[in-house]
Amino acid sequence: MGGKPLTLAHLSDPHLPTSGGLSLRHLTLKQTLGYLNWQCRRKDVFSSVLVDRLIVDIKDHAPDHIAVTGDLVNLGMPLEIEAAAEWLMALGPQADVSVIPGNHDIYVRLHRDPGVARWCDYMRSDAFGEQLLRETGVRADGFPFVRRLGLVALIGLNSAVPTPPFVAAGALGDAQLSRLQSILQELERLGLVRVVLIHHPPLARLTSRRRGLRDADALEGMLQQCGAELVLHGHNHTNSLAWLDSRNGRVPILGIASAGMATSAEGAGSLARYNLIRFLGAGGGQRIEVIGRGLAVPGGPIVELDRRALSLKGELTGAVALE
Ligand SMILES: [Fe+2]
Ligand SMILES: [Fe+2]
Repeated sequence: MGGKPLTLAHLSDPHLPTSGGLSLRHLTLKQTLGYLNWQCRRKDVFSSVLVDRLIVDIKDHAPDHIAVTGDLVNLGMPLEIEAAAEWLMALGPQADVSVIPGNHDIYVRLHRDPGVARWCDYMRSDAFGEQLLRETGVRADGFPFVRRLGLVALIGLNSAVPTPPFVAAGALGDAQLSRLQSILQELERLGLVRVVLIHHPPLARLTSRRRGLRDADALEGMLQQCGAELVLHGHNHTNSLAWLDSRNGRVPILGIASAGMATSAEGAGSLARYNLIRFLGAGGGQRIEVIGRGLAVPGGPIVELDRRALSLKGELTGAVALE
């Protein structure tokens, strides 16, 4: 990476517009209710024009990589997912963009349809990740996937599972949790800065039970045991920074507003934004700077909203802690 800091852009929950009506082949009660909710309320709250403006701003800042933490669509319908695949291609090549699904992307069980597998090029390990998974005995397909950007390793999780109407909960499952543990341990041994991507907030206290991760307690215990240098999530449609004490330091947990939120109807800190996350210091592993950019007021220009610094302590080859 030389002297140039590595920059990761994080956006989430664009909720790209649902158009073309319902697909009768896959229609369920949950999708029908979701469609009515979209038509009556959400289509006036989420703006794809705003998402497009954020993307222009992101590209102006030329990040090294872009992470999208789920809820690209609304009802998980094949037509929506296909349109989102085209949106991803416009966002950037698969090597430069990492994606994980949200609960609105895996909304119901689809029969005989690939669903979010249409985005697989953006949700797979790179050559480093494939080798790491092989060496740690972890199956190289599916989740978690691992990608390396210099001294930073991205770990992509899938917390989205089909749920009944009015339930937005998620789950990782025992197998994914077990693989995550091996990956976190191995990446720590290699001295890399571990950045975990997950759609649902990773801690039970960060959302309601109806909207939360069913195995949040297991994930929290693992993060306490194994640590991570940064966790990025979406789902709550609001900006947040929480901390989790771990065996080798405090883990910052950074939530972000929806990239398409045009109004402040969901409260303060919910207007459309993205974060530029800069990994600074020797090789990018000593300090993290988070620069928020987006709307300060509804209908306003895209501006810098805030700037926060998180410091990495200790040697990268040993325990890495944040303060
Ligand atoms: Fe969302
Ligand atoms: Fe969500």
